[in-house]
Amino acid sequence: MAEPVERNLGLDLVRVTETAALGAGRWLGRGDKEAADQAAVDGMRLHLSTLNIDGKVVIGEGEKDRAPMLFNGESVGDGTGMIVDVAVDPVDGTSLTAEGMPGAIAVIALSEGRGTMYAPGSLVYMDKIAVGPEAAGTIDLEAPVDHNLKKVAEANGKDMGDLRCLILNRPRNQHYVDAARAAGARISVFGDGDVAAAIATAQEDHQADIMLGIGGSPEAVIAAAALKCMGGEIQCRLWPRDEAERDYAKTESLDLNQVLTADDLVDSGNVFFAATGVTGGEFLPAVDFTGDDKAITHSVIMRSKTRSVRYMEAHHDLARLRAIASDTLD
Ligand code: FBP
Repeated sequence: MAEPVERNLGLDLVRVTETAALGAGRWLGRGDKEAADQAAVDGMRLHLSTLNIDGKVVIGEGEKDRAPMLFNGESVGDGTGMIVDVAVDPVDGTSLTAEGMPGAIAVIALSEGRGTMYAPGSLVYMDKIAVGPEAAGTIDLEAPVDHNLKKVAEANGKDMGDLRCLILNRPRNQHYVDAARAAGARISVFGDGDVAAAIATAQEDHQADIMLGIGGSPEAVIAAAALKCMGGEIQCRLWPRDEAERDYAKTESLDLNQVLTADDLVDSGNVFFAATGVTGGEFLPAVDFTGDDKAITHSVIMRSKTRSVRYMEAHHDLARLRAIASDTLD
C-alpha cells in the first residue's frame, strides 16, 4: 500500500534559515564575525520555537547560555509532531560574511528519530570526501586520491582535465592539492564553508565534481543530511589534531580508522534540509537588500524521502517581519 502523503517540514524550516540569513546579511563585509553570527542565531531562534516538532539539538552552537535554543542537547520546537534530531549552523562561513566574501549560507537539517544524528563530541575535525549522485558508490576515502579522481571522472563522463575538485584552503589539506595537481585535475580552493562545497558536487550543473579535505565535524553531519536528500555520497573519518585528541578518542572508544558514511552520520530515511544564501556564491545568491526596507533571499529546501529539491526566492517586507518578531518575543 502506498504511504500517506506527509507534511514536508522543509517548507517550515526555510523560514528559519531565511531569518538567519537576513540577520547575518546585514553584516556583510563589516569585519565583525561575532555580530554576524549573533544576528543569524537571533534570526534562527525566532522561528525555531514555532516548528511543529519534538526536536533535540545534536549539532548546535555549543555551550548552553551562549546561544539559548540552539545549544547541544536542547529541546526545540513546540513539542508536538515528529520526533527529530536537529542540526543547525546559523552561518557556515562567519569569516566569509565578516570579510564580504562569497560562500556563506545559513542551514538547518532534521532527521526523523531520536539519536539519528552522529554527535562528534570534542573531535572537531573530520577528513571528508563528497560527490554527487552520478559518482555515488564509486569513491573510497581509504583509496589513493588519484584513484578516486579517476572513478569520479568516469562516473561524471569527464576527462581528468575537465574534473573540478573543491578543497578547503588549509595547510592540513595541502596533500590533497598536490595529489589532485599530480593527477591533472582542476582545483578550486575555498576559504571556508565546506557544507556549500559538498552540496555543489551534487548540483545538476556539474560545475564541481568532488570535494576533498579536512574540515569541521558538525559540518560533515550537515553535509551528509543534504547529500542524502540529493542522492550524493560523503565519506568521513575523525581527524584528531594532537595526542590529547588521540587520547580522548581512546577514552571514548572512538575508532579513528572507521570510515563514516552518510548513513553513519545521519541514520534516518526521513531527512529535511533547508539553506539560505548569506553572501552569495556558487550554491545560493546573497541576501539582497533592495531598499525601502525590503529584501530578497534565495533558499533551497530538500527532503530525502521524496528526493525533492526546491529552490525558493522570497521577497521580504522587513518592517512587517520586525513587527511580527516583536509580537513573538513579547
Ligand atoms: P563557521 O563559519 O561555522 O565557523 O565554519 C566555517 C568552516 O569553514 C566550515 O565550513 C569548515 O568545516 C570549518 O570552518 C573548518 O574549520 P577551521 O576554520 O577551523 O579550519
